[in-house]
Amino acid sequence: MYVPYYLLPGITMIELFDLTGKTAILTGGAGGIGRALALGMARCGADILAADLDPDNFKETADAIRALGRQVTVLKVEVTEEQSVSDMVDSALEEFQHIDILVNAAGIAIRKPAESFPINEWQKVMDINVRGTFLTCQAVGKVMIEQGGGKIINISSVRGRFGAPKDYAGYCTSKGAVDALTRTLACEWGKYNVLVNAIAPGTVETDLVRPMLAKPEDAERLKARIPVGHWAMPEDIVGPVVFLSSKASDFISGQIIYIDGGMTAGT
Ligand SMILES: NC(=O)c1ccc[n+]([C@@H]2O[C@H](COP(=O)([O-])OP(=O)(O)OC[C@H]3O[C@@H](n4cnc5c(N)ncnc54)[C@H](O)[C@@H]3O)[C@@H](O)[C@H]2O)c1
Repeated sequence: MYVPYYLLPGITMIELFDLTGKTAILTGGAGGIGRALALGMARCGADILAADLDPDNFKETADAIRALGRQVTVLKVEVTEEQSVSDMVDSALEEFQHIDILVNAAGIAIRKPAESFPINEWQKVMDINVRGTFLTCQAVGKVMIEQGGGKIINISSVRGRFGAPKDYAGYCTSKGAVDALTRTLACEWGKYNVLVNAIAPGTVETDLVRPMLAKPEDAERLKARIPVGHWAMPEDIVGPVVFLSSKASDFISGQIIYIDGGMTAGT
């Protein structure tokens, strides 16, 4: 039975955000945003399974999570491959017996002009950002339905809503699809208490955008469009994802939450 948090006996406001006893899978866990999220969620009490094509980058974060007394598992996973995703879910269940939170942070960007974007590279962006997100949602969603609920947070982008003046025909299309997938899964799985939301960052300083930020004219153009006057660090993404993972957001589903320093508020 659904019990709103304010009817839980003696719950304190801070406990609304507590993830103690929860298990979170993070795809792209070894990436810039993934590492910050894994540590931040562990600091709120969650045990972590970090899944990434390139898991070596997760070593220091794994040590930091262990030092907090939380459990952590690191796996090499290719999100576009059904078998690899299915193995990831089996490992999570073997290790933790339940999966409460899925964060889909695996993603790539390939930047080329639309008129000469090679279709195989466009497809690669779609495969990782869309097919990968769907496969992990499907495999973990099945477990959450059997468990009686769970929370899924897809990492979209402001580019899911807005076009870009150059080079983003693959990335924008893929993130628009992530937004649509988020909404439709929220509709389909609400009755199972599986809540599906997305967060849509603007610019976050990670390897994904470093090449762009290294070009002064691109960096200045980007900064000029952000009302708070600077781009985000990966840690800026932690609070909203903890919120969407926690009890505090038990009546939120199908939403795309922009974390962009006000960028999408303007023109
Ligand atoms: N950095 C930004 O400005 C920004 C803005 C908006 C949205 N995002 C999104 O946030 C997410 C995380 O990006 P990031 O900035 O941390 O980038 P990142 O490159 O640091 O991390 C992405 C991670 O995904 C992993 N990955 C890539 N392909 C994979 C695959 N097939 N299977 C498994 N893992 C795979 C990479 O190994 C990497 O560790 C992405 O979906 C990205 O589109 C980033």
